[in-house]
Amino acid sequence: MSRRAVDLIAKKKEGLSLQKEEIEFLVNSYVKGQIPDYQMAAFLMAVYFRGLNPEETANLTMSMAYSGETFDLSEFGFILDKHSTGGVGDTTTLVVLPLVAACGGKIAKLSGRGLGHTGGTIDKLESISGFNTELSETQFFKQVKELGVVVAGQTKNLVPADKLLYALRDVTATVDSLPLIAASIMSKKIAGGADGIVLDVKVGRGAFMKDIESARDLARLMVKMGNHVGRKVTAVISDMETPLSLASGNKLEVLEALEVLKGKGSKRLRELSLVLAQEMLYLAEIDAPLEKVLQEKEAYKVFEELVSYQGGDLSQLKLEAAYQKDILALESGYFVDADALQIGEIVCELGAGRKVKEDSIDPDVGVYLHREIGDKIQKGEPLATVYANDKDLLNNAIERLQQVLIIGDKPSLRPVVYEIIRDEDLL
Ligand code: URA
Ligand code: CA
Repeated sequence: MSRRAVDLIAKKKEGLSLQKEEIEFLVNSYVKGQIPDYQMAAFLMAVYFRGLNPEETANLTMSMAYSGETFDLSEFGFILDKHSTGGVGDTTTLVVLPLVAACGGKIAKLSGRGLGHTGGTIDKLESISGFNTELSETQFFKQVKELGVVVAGQTKNLVPADKLLYALRDVTATVDSLPLIAASIMSKKIAGGADGIVLDVKVGRGAFMKDIESARDLARLMVKMGNHVGRKVTAVISDMETPLSLASGNKLEVLEALEVLKGKGSKRLRELSLVLAQEMLYLAEIDAPLEKVLQEKEAYKVFEELVSYQGGDLSQLKLEAAYQKDILALESGYFVDADALQIGEIVCELGAGRKVKEDSIDPDVGVYLHREIGDKIQKGEPLATVYANDKDLLNNAIERLQQVLIIGDKPSLRPVVYEIIRDEDLL
C-alpha cells in the first residue's frame, strides 16, 4: 500500500476501494497531525462523491473508534446504549435510561451538547442544579457497577478522530455523507463500550435526514455495520416533522421527562420512549412490563437515584424565566402543524441553544405546547407558553410562533415511529 495521502485521495477520487490498512493510515496519521487539513478535506470530498462500500465504512468506523482511548466495560455484563441523530423536544434519553435501568438493563451513555436547532442531553441534565456530567473514567465505571446506569459528556480522549473530522466536515460541506455520518456515530458508540445499541434515526423537517429513503439508508447502514463489528444494533426511524415533546428548552424538557416518568406528560414522547426502551431490552434479552414500570413510578425512582448519584438536586428544579407569555388560539379547530425546525430555531434564538460551539446556554427559556398535534382547539385557549429572559427575544419568539402553530379544520396525525430495523431483518 502507498503511504502517501495523495495516492489514497487519488484512489478514492477514481472510485476505487481502499484497504483496511490504507484507511487506518489516513485516520491515524491525521490524528497525529501528519496529514494536513487540506489533504484530509480533499479525501472527505472524494468520499462524499464516490462513497464508501460497507466494508470500507466499517473499517473507517473501527479506525476512528480506536483513534483514542476506549472503554472496556465487559466485566459489567451486556452494556446498552442509545443514540438519537438529533431533534427538537427530543427528550427520550431522560425517560429511556431510568426505564431500562429499572428493568435490569445496564446502560453506559456518553452524550453530547446541543448545537443549532437540536438540543443535547448534557445541556438538559446540567439544568438540574449540581448535576455533574464531567465524570472521570473511574467515576464512570464505578457508577455502571454500582447503579447500572450512567450518563456523561464525551471525554476529550474518546474518538479524537471524530472531533477533528467533524470540525473539518463542518467547514468543507461534507457533513451530509451517509458513510461519514454512520462512521461518526458508530465510532463513538463502539468506543463507549456498548454491546447493544439502539439508534433513533429522526426523519423530517427538524431532522438531519429530510426524507424516509435517506433515513432508511442510514439506519440500515449502521445496523449492518454494527453487526459486522460484533455489536447488536437496532434502528428506529421516528418522526421529526413536529417537536417530539410538548416541551422544547432545557429545564422544560427535564420537567416534561419527569411528567412522563410519573405516567403523565407528552403522549408522543412517552410512545417513542417505550419503543426505544423495548428495543434496548430486546437486545439485552430482558423481558419486562414497561408500561407497568412507568405507571408504578419505578423508573421515576431510578431517575431520582441517577440524579442524586451524579450530585444533582431535583428539589431545586424550577423554571426561573423572567417572562412567561401565553399564545392564544385565534380560532377553533384542530392543532394540525408545528414545524419542528422553526420551533427548534425559535427556542435556540431565545437562548436555549448554541449557534456556535462556544456559546453559553440559558436553561430556563423555551417553548411549551399545551396541546398535541391532532388535538381539538377552542378559540382563545392557550396553545403555547413562551419562557424568555429578554423582552425583545420574547416578542420575536411570539411573532414567529404565531406563524408556526397551525390550526386547521381536519385533524391530521402522523405516526411517531415509521420503521424498526433489527439485525435479523437484514440477514
Ligand atoms: N451526528 C454525529 O454524531 N455525527 C455526524 O456525522 C452526524 C450526526
Ligand atoms: Ca462489553
